[in-house]
Amino acid sequence: MRRSLIQVTVLAVVLSVIITAISLVIDWFPEQASTSADDVDLLYDVLLIVSVPIFVLVMTVVVYSVVRFRARPGDDRDGDPIHGNARLEIAWIAIPTVLVTALAVYAWVVLDDQEDPRPDTMLVNVRAGQFAWRFEYPQPGGQSVRSNELYLPKDRPVQFRIKTDDVVHSFWIPEFRIKQDTVPGIVTRTQTVPSRAGDYDVVCAELCGLGHSTMRQQVHVMEGDRFASWIGARRQALAAAAPEPGRQVFTTYGCAGCHTLEDAGAAAATGPSLDGLAEVYDKRNPRLSLEAYVRQSIVDPKALVVPGFRADGMPANYSSQLSRAEIDTLVDYLARASSSSSGPGTAATVPPPAGPPR
Ligand code: CUA
Repeated sequence: MRRSLIQVTVLAVVLSVIITAISLVIDWFPEQASTSADDVDLLYDVLLIVSVPIFVLVMTVVVYSVVRFRARPGDDRDGDPIHGNARLEIAWIAIPTVLVTALAVYAWVVLDDQEDPRPDTMLVNVRAGQFAWRFEYPQPGGQSVRSNELYLPKDRPVQFRIKTDDVVHSFWIPEFRIKQDTVPGIVTRTQTVPSRAGDYDVVCAELCGLGHSTMRQQVHVMEGDRFASWIGARRQALAAAAPEPGRQVFTTYGCAGCHTLEDAGAAAATGPSLDGLAEVYDKRNPRLSLEAYVRQSIVDPKALVVPGFRADGMPANYSSQLSRAEIDTLVDYLARASSSSSGPGTAATVPPPAGPPR
């Protein structure tokens, strides 16, 4: 018995050292691009150092016992009756309690540190919706600069206030080591300081429906002066853009939930993109004008299904949901906005004539 105990102890220690070393050598994470990354990665390493040896110890004892003390063929004796061992039981409750409590406190300290208010924090409102992210930069005067991609200045603290228009999503930027769920009805927050210029993915990390895997956009971390000129240009475009009734119809009836249209801040991919439609529509149906094609796609979506998309993807009841005037406004708007994908303020300045009468 004593020999078994020594054997299993030596085996467990050797295996623990080897497997813990391997787990620390493995490069688990993508590159670090925020000031949160170091602390999170260290926390992860500490979790490995504490948990891997325990896992290895337990598995070693289990496997060793199964092999060493298995019943030989023909041996049908029952084992010795075993009663409780108070000292052992206290130990195996006390040790994990202390370990888990200590780790929880440590993790809380790391999280608390990250959520500390920082001076000069920039605010970005994040809107989640099936199946795209939208980003809004509040401006003095109440308006917001909107963007389908996230642009951030390097080395400036940023706080994300996250809302969802529908279900639970999860806002995740792996290189920043931040992840925060979106919850219908409340605003959730997370913050960090981007520390490395580059392009990284903004990922939805919560199964949110059919298009979940396509809910992935980009964050561009840039030097402060480049960011300033980007937001400056967007701000000017915002001031120049007159209110657009067609965009209102587009948003009200949920078109943005499935389609991409830069002019309306829509970036979903369940249906065909509407950006650049003017260049491709006549390959789909050379007999129709752009306006007529757009109108047909709204009132009779099954008439011409774009290859690669589902025939039943577009609801067929918009002709009864929208008034005739709303459809006219929407067709007119889409014909203009889809010919120019470079955003508000740059849409064609001369509106083409409205679509043919029906
Ligand atoms: Cu949104 Cu998954």
